[in-house]
Amino acid sequence: MFDFDTVVDRRGTASEKWERYAGRDILPMWVADMDFRSPPAVIAALHRRADHGVFGYTAPPAGLREAIRVHLAAAYAWEVAPEWIVFLPGLGTGLNVVCRAIGEDHDDVLTLVPIYPPFLSAPRFARRGLIAVRLAEAQGRWEIDFERLQAALTPRSRLFLFCNPHNPVGRVYRRRELEAVAEFCLRFGLTVCSDEIHAGLVLEPGLEHRPLAALDPEIARRTITLLSPSKTFNLAGLGCGFAVIASEELRRRFRRAMAGIVPMINPFGYAAAEAAYREGEPWRRALIAYLRENRDRLTRALAGMPGGLAAAPIEGTYLAWIDVRASGLKDPAAFFEAAGVGLQDGRDFAGPGFLRLNFGCPRRLLQTALERMSRALENAFRPGG
Ligand SMILES: Cc1ncc(COP(=O)(O)O)c(C=O)c1O
Repeated sequence: MFDFDTVVDRRGTASEKWERYAGRDILPMWVADMDFRSPPAVIAALHRRADHGVFGYTAPPAGLREAIRVHLAAAYAWEVAPEWIVFLPGLGTGLNVVCRAIGEDHDDVLTLVPIYPPFLSAPRFARRGLIAVRLAEAQGRWEIDFERLQAALTPRSRLFLFCNPHNPVGRVYRRRELEAVAEFCLRFGLTVCSDEIHAGLVLEPGLEHRPLAALDPEIARRTITLLSPSKTFNLAGLGCGFAVIASEELRRRFRRAMAGIVPMINPFGYAAAEAAYREGEPWRRALIAYLRENRDRLTRALAGMPGGLAAAPIEGTYLAWIDVRASGLKDPAAFFEAAGVGLQDGRDFAGPGFLRLNFGCPRRLLQTALERMSRALENAFRPGG
């Protein structure tokens, strides 16, 4: 019913992902947007908005607030009041606003690494200290090490930046893990920012996304949840996300930190977001089935490659976090780039020895990338080679 197989030529569209390798035969599998067209309902809504022809300053539409409320209730049984929603032109902005809104200069912000790079830069930009705590690797699985987290706490720790599903390790945290996160934040008086931008991208059958703030009212009062249709429906360039903040006091601080520097959202961002939440669910389900198959092919292909590459189970997101330490490659990102595949260096995520591969693309592109990777490794590891 929906077409994910057609390769849409993105060259010449100033795509950040594709421009990096313009003029070179390198498949870009780095930055987190997908190479699929957005849902037909979203494209139709954008056409309607463009046909209107007047593009003035645009306030958050009441219809979008309502669509988000209905979506969160239906998808996660999470009841959110419309006034809890604070719109943002991006969640990168949201992370930076949170760091400015909570605590004071030289307070500390905790996060779990490896992590999406702005989690590492936002505290510094806000004159906060960064406390990066490593996730534990247990039999190829990534877990939160609460002892390590507690040991890293300082008297000035105020904020915990949490990511679920976790980019780049692909974990979808279970209820007991979320309860432990909540307990930890309550016990040590931390405000938590739960970045759930990948919530719509749970791939593992039987797993589901649970918003941290939906656990109970006590943790909800301390939580700023960041959400957006941009990853799930591939709308990253349209810049429309939001925070859900139940506490009036936290909301006030958040808005004060935004004042004067965060711009309004454009009318296309709003139109696309509303169409995605109202009409995008059948497309999303088809997308999940497609991504699951991509993930399974990728996992099988990696297991068959020389060099001992390994990826932990990818429970959510369209991102694979590949362990290349056993290969002994000195600069693995450069190695695969030379082979025609553009991956993201784990060092960007405070995860040296790893690469991140974006498999949100037509199967033909993924297949070509995997063949190139495999061939390069075979040449490098061939006996006598
Ligand atoms: C965890 C996480 N948060 C935030 C963002 C950025 O969101 P935005 O494009 O809305 O700034 C990304 C993008 O990859 C992400 O993975």
